[in-house]
Amino acid sequence: MAEGDYIIGGIFPLHYNQEMPDLNCTYRPPPVKCNGFDPRAFRWAQTMRLAVEEINHNMELLPNYTLGYKIFDSCAYPLTGQRAALAVLNGLSEDHSAMCSGASPLLAVIGESGSAQSIVVSRILQPFRIPMISYFSSCACLTDRIKYPTFFRVIPNDDYQVKAIAQLLVRFNWTWVGLVRGDHEYGRFAVQGLLRELQGTKVCVAYQEMIPLLYNRQRALEIMQVMRSSTAKVVVVFSAEGEMTPFLGDYMTQNITGIQWVASEAWVTASVFTGSEYYPYLGGTIGFGIRKGPISRLSDYLQTVNPQMYPNNPLVQELWEALYGCSPSSSSGSQLPPCSGQEYLLDQHSAYMNTSSPRVAYNVYKAVYAIAHSLHNLLLCQPDQGPFLNNSCAQSNNIQPWQLQHYLQEVTFNIAGEVVNFDLKGDSIPYYDIINWQRGTGSNIEFVNVGLFDGTKPVGEELVIQEERIMWAGHQSEVPVSVCSVSCLPGSRKAVRRGEPVCCFDCVPCDSGKISNQTNSIECTFCPEDFWSNKDRTACISKKIEFLAYDSLGIALTVISIVGACLTIAAITVFFHHRNTAIVRVNNSELSFFILFALTLCFLCSLVFIGEPTAWSCMLRHTAFSITFSLCISCILGKTLVVWAAFTATRPGDNIMKWLGHKQQRAIIFSCTLVQVIICAAWLIDAPPYPSRNTQYERSKIILECSVGSSLAFWCVLGYIGLQACLCFILAFLARKLPGNFNEAKFITFSMLIFCAVWLAFIPAYISSPGNYADAVESFAILASSFGLLFCLFAPKCYIILLKPEKNTKQHLMGKEKR
Ligand code: TRP
Repeated sequence: MAEGDYIIGGIFPLHYNQEMPDLNCTYRPPPVKCNGFDPRAFRWAQTMRLAVEEINHNMELLPNYTLGYKIFDSCAYPLTGQRAALAVLNGLSEDHSAMCSGASPLLAVIGESGSAQSIVVSRILQPFRIPMISYFSSCACLTDRIKYPTFFRVIPNDDYQVKAIAQLLVRFNWTWVGLVRGDHEYGRFAVQGLLRELQGTKVCVAYQEMIPLLYNRQRALEIMQVMRSSTAKVVVVFSAEGEMTPFLGDYMTQNITGIQWVASEAWVTASVFTGSEYYPYLGGTIGFGIRKGPISRLSDYLQTVNPQMYPNNPLVQELWEALYGCSPSSSSGSQLPPCSGQEYLLDQHSAYMNTSSPRVAYNVYKAVYAIAHSLHNLLLCQPDQGPFLNNSCAQSNNIQPWQLQHYLQEVTFNIAGEVVNFDLKGDSIPYYDIINWQRGTGSNIEFVNVGLFDGTKPVGEELVIQEERIMWAGHQSEVPVSVCSVSCLPGSRKAVRRGEPVCCFDCVPCDSGKISNQTNSIECTFCPEDFWSNKDRTACISKKIEFLAYDSLGIALTVISIVGACLTIAAITVFFHHRNTAIVRVNNSELSFFILFALTLCFLCSLVFIGEPTAWSCMLRHTAFSITFSLCISCILGKTLVVWAAFTATRPGDNIMKWLGHKQQRAIIFSCTLVQVIICAAWLIDAPPYPSRNTQYERSKIILECSVGSSLAFWCVLGYIGLQACLCFILAFLARKLPGNFNEAKFITFSMLIFCAVWLAFIPAYISSPGNYADAVESFAILASSFGLLFCLFAPKCYIILLKPEKNTKQHLMGKEKR
């Protein structure tokens, strides 16, 4: 402590641990025993002293006044913080001064470090309206002006930090993260805030664990078991060195690997963990560190501390013990070996001397200056222009703390190029450095600045990261992956698992006809009409158009029909050539030629079924086929009639034959065919067949086919042919016993049998085959029945004409030749 005109208090966690006091209230509690000296906090306290001394020597700031200070230890524990706060108010130490000896001359307090302690301290200072400025308490809870009216801080509110962490997680696609926190307000509110920030993002929390306030190895091991078994490789920790030191100690014995730590500002710059033994476990840690700033004289100032200079200061002794593991004075009764006196505070990396980038110390420095500047402003007050009641000013010899608070709220000043001020809630400007733990020279850990978060920038531009400079956990340059389920590739979609967070999902492939072209699609989308999904379901491709084309099937049909037509023409030629021979003449040569001609057309009309259906080919298909077939069968019918008539005419008294002259025959053929023509004409006029796209039968294809237009007409046409064929068959059957060696009726019967068989088989085949195959079936039926007719009717005759000319006599044919 130091005297001065105005006294400010300082509360620092000079020890990071304490023995739980025995508070059973039956006797006066003993002084708290703190242990675990924290050189870092000692440095902060020294910074406060330095700042006060600087201000006292500064001729511009508070020229005629001096500042004094009182510094107390909170042992990083709220209850002790409370004792420290009371001590700050009352006197040197609880032991040495009578309690409540009088009003404290204290104007403001600098403190505390941890939020939990700050809350307690703030509550104690409130009745006295003494403002406090915290240098490290970032809990969002402290923003509440009603609960903490006198609280100021020079560290950003954690709301910004959690925002930054959330953005970091999103940025690196870490969608499955674990949260670990200490058991204090800071941890509670930070986790709450982070969960709030993560709502609506793609990040899910795998687990939330809490390190107990009183460190408990059993519990810690349970937490590590959770960490080990989870697939979340990224763990965000809101905690401070106090809990982290034992926790990490146990962590290192557990041999857990692959954890990428995201450190909160409270421990991301803690030099306790910079030892090389930590690197395999903590290397790659990333986090947001609070703003650093230069304190030019800090390093020199810290070095002035040594046991020779302050032989009676127990803190300096503890510092020596903590830094060098030796006891500087023999009287202290510690078990440590005595120091040589040769220890110098030159090691830049020691927890105390690490002044390369002061962050918290810089905050302390700013806090002291903020008080000095406010005090300065307060003293500059012109009488009758003051801010208080009746425009009065504060009296310089009797400044009330609440008057200073007013000026603190208003103050703005510059320090090392940075503007320091407080907003209405006592918060300061949100700015963070992104710190990455990398292996330094000598294999210890070095804090490398790899970016920044500036909360004053517009949304989306706050985070600036130099990704290429980051070294990740496990000494890797690739961003670690922390996801619950690996993303779904295009072609599949996410299916959320029941009862699990949205980040855990299965990938189900899209149904056919649906696609997804992005990774992690939520839904598969339907392909537009006439499009279908490809095999991978990643794109819509236009559907395959199918019709009976000139592929293998089409070519086979074409060849068969042309062969058939050629054979028929050959038969015509043979008949024509031998038109004067008996067999041709006996069998009604004119009708034979008609039949052959019709057969040629029949063969050819199967060609119309091949190729892309057009309006014309559709109309042509059925009509051409039905008319030619009708013609053909009409001819055969005519022939049968003649044969039948001849058969009946052999009985005396019958002269049917005279009714069946050539003219009559032609008339019969013509009229029979005409009926079919009329049906077809009616069909074409009323509901002609038209080309249509069949997408029903196979959804991945468009089948081009001819729709019959009117199925009634279609079946009428077929029925009519069938009727003719049956008639023909019956007549021929009746006439089959005609005497003679060459009985035409027998062949006609036979051919009609084949014909009927083919077309009866055709009907079910036609109905059940899809689009283009129906055409093929019909085409085949035409060819098969045509071949049937051709072979049955004409093959035997050609055989006789060409190979057995000796049988080609009238006698032989009539069966009248001599046996
Ligand atoms: N920002 C932290 C806080 O507000 C820093 C901190 C200091 C801390 N000491 C602590 C956190 C002890 C937890 C425990 O609390």
